[in-house]
Amino acid sequence: MDEHKQKKILCVGLVCLDIINVVDKYPEEDTDTRCLSQRWQRGGNASNSCTVLSLLGASTAFMGSLSAGPVADFILEDFQKFHIDVSLVSEHAQCVLPASVVISNISTGSRTILHMNRNLPDVTEEDFSKVDLHQFKWIHWEGRNAEEQVKMIQQVAMYNSTLPPQQRITVSVEIEKTREPLCQLFPHGDVVFVSKDVARHFGFLTAEAALKGLYSRVKKGAVLICAWAEKGADALGPDGLIVHSDAFPPETLVDTLGAGDTFNAAVIYTLSNGGSLENALTFGCRVAGRKCGFHGYDSISEKFTDN
Ligand code: ADP
Ligand code: FRU
Repeated sequence: MDEHKQKKILCVGLVCLDIINVVDKYPEEDTDTRCLSQRWQRGGNASNSCTVLSLLGASTAFMGSLSAGPVADFILEDFQKFHIDVSLVSEHAQCVLPASVVISNISTGSRTILHMNRNLPDVTEEDFSKVDLHQFKWIHWEGRNAEEQVKMIQQVAMYNSTLPPQQRITVSVEIEKTREPLCQLFPHGDVVFVSKDVARHFGFLTAEAALKGLYSRVKKGAVLICAWAEKGADALGPDGLIVHSDAFPPETLVDTLGAGDTFNAAVIYTLSNGGSLENALTFGCRVAGRKCGFHGYDSISEKFTDN
């Protein structure tokens, strides 16, 4: 096994607290509902993708900001439980940890998220300049403070320019929210994940239409990927051919929270191990679909460690 393949996958982005309220009927406004269950879970797109990567057997690191105190301790312990390297997490002792209140409806699998980030800053270009890039084979950015993130990616491009192709770091970016500044990330990923929300925002009604319409925004040779819930996912690479995978719905749809983060992780896992785009999409949909059949992420390892 060559040395590059052994290197870690780094995800840069949000970690937050998810307070998950499981119900069997979506509540009416101004009513008092008893939940079926309630739990705390480590959340945030990049953090969730780390969890899934680690469960799939990849060596994984998270880079993001954290506050101090008991909630931050809960988050750190959970990262440790999943063997995720947190040495690049920066602590902001005066800040409040972002949190989401999630209503998870087991009758439909829907997840309704109320998110708040009061004052925790995102990772900056300066933070990133201190990272020893030699440890990584792949770095994934969850689109957030895009202007800074572009500068971080440029640092990786500089680093890569000194190396032969097989030793370079692959860069992926996720453009999930419809905030205009995130669009500047399109030309900076070798692999670009664009959400159906963003696709719809641009007026596209299918993943295929979105890929064809948005492909001119990515850099030469890049792969653009668009997941579309129960419709599965599509991808378009430099050969101009659309690749598609159907979804793999679970027997019972229970919890779609983090399905997209799970999909991204499984795609990155496959591509970073040299798998084809077709296999990556199928594996992404398979793992994400199965995830929708249970709460949280833990059971992923029982089903997919032999892949
Ligand atoms: P999110 O809303 O979390 O960003 P997406 O809608 O982008 O998630 O879905 C990501 C992937 O998860 C899809 O490509 C699909 O494979 C799987 N998925 C999501 N929702 C469902 C569902 N209702 N049934 C089956 N698979 C699903
Ligand atoms: C799921 C998720 C949650 C978090 C929210 C933030 O994709 O990352 O874990 O609360 O999105 O937008």
